[in-house]
Amino acid sequence: MSGARHLYMHLPFCAHRCGYCDFVTVVGRGGQHRGYVDALLRELELERGLLADELETVFLGGGTPTFTALPELVRLLEALPPAAEVTTEANPETVTPELAQALRDAGVSRVSLGAQTFRPELLRVLERVAGPDDVRRAVHHLRDAGFDNISLDLVYGIPGQSASDLAADLDDALALEPEHLSCYELEAKPGTRFTHAWGEELGRQADAMEDYFERVVATLTGAGYRWYETANFCRVDDARDLRARHNLAYWLGRDYLGVGIGAVSTIESRRWRNTPKLGRYLEALAAGRAPERELEPLDGDVRARERVMLGLRLDEPLPLAGLRHALDPVGLARVEELGLAEESGDALSLTERGRFLGGGVTVELLA
Ligand SMILES: C[S@@+](CC[C@H](N)C(=O)[O-])C[C@H]1O[C@@H](n2cnc3c(N)ncnc32)[C@H](O)[C@@H]1O
Ligand code: SF4
Repeated sequence: MSGARHLYMHLPFCAHRCGYCDFVTVVGRGGQHRGYVDALLRELELERGLLADELETVFLGGGTPTFTALPELVRLLEALPPAAEVTTEANPETVTPELAQALRDAGVSRVSLGAQTFRPELLRVLERVAGPDDVRRAVHHLRDAGFDNISLDLVYGIPGQSASDLAADLDDALALEPEHLSCYELEAKPGTRFTHAWGEELGRQADAMEDYFERVVATLTGAGYRWYETANFCRVDDARDLRARHNLAYWLGRDYLGVGIGAVSTIESRRWRNTPKLGRYLEALAAGRAPERELEPLDGDVRARERVMLGLRLDEPLPLAGLRHALDPVGLARVEELGLAEESGDALSLTERGRFLGGGVTVELLA
């Protein structure tokens, strides 16, 4: 086995839990940051044999990785195996000139900033700590520290967000000239406070979301960005491929190792998810044991179906060699007849219309 070339590390700490979020997060706990970084490094050591000698990507996701006590975050980054792309997620209000420089010096090459929206009243609906100027300031601090690969996350479909609010958000984001943008439809995650408070409103506005999605794509491609994945856009640069290399590995069905609470790994025919419980995780690793995990055996059929579902999110044709058995020939003929997908050679792609309909089309295609 040559080993996985992609490493995900979960840093769960946040200043505040946003109502709409169902990621594995822990509020505050400054006293535990050090112990958590120790545990992450111990888990990495235990699993190092699953990784290739040379990594392509490392991704620090959260939670809010940049809320982790800075000396601990730097200690973690400095202990990681080198990789061609090292990304960290960051919340705008945490990005000071000192933090930006420390990330750069510790080898981070890409920062993904959670902007979400630039409208103050919508930021309040999302219970975000950052204001619009924090987002702008964060980008400037990162640029000053030498970052030339910055991504902004936006969400649309926030209760009360009009089409002109969305247009203004896209303009504000474009004015910062990010190399990459992720634009997600706000999802009502079951069991969150947000869904309790706003679920009905989200249901009422659901019909408008296809139009919002089309506006996002039209505006960003009109500004010269490549719509390379359903929700992801990058600047086109002759010298560099600015797609998110780490996420691309997920969409291409590559193996990856995830460490930290709640982290998922997929390696060959196995997938596992670490316990989301901080105490249990720390306890296990302090004793030199792997944390408790939920295991899911993956057979070839499951991986082939995932390969189709994820691969068709991309703007490049999906080679069908070895995947035919995952497709339903009748469903395939139907979506082709409807002009939602097309085959060329032995590869399949969704048409523009098919990409807007996304998952619904893929479900039709699967055996
Ligand atoms: C791991 S999350 C959070 C990263 C960072 N802590 C932040 O809040 O900006 C990464 C991204 O997922 C998106 N996200 C989180 N919850 C979502 C939801 N309920 N629906 C849609 N997108 C969501 C946000 O755009 C967010 O920036
Ligand atoms: S800061 Fe990010 S990860 Fe933390 S609760 Fe808010 S959305 Fe979730």
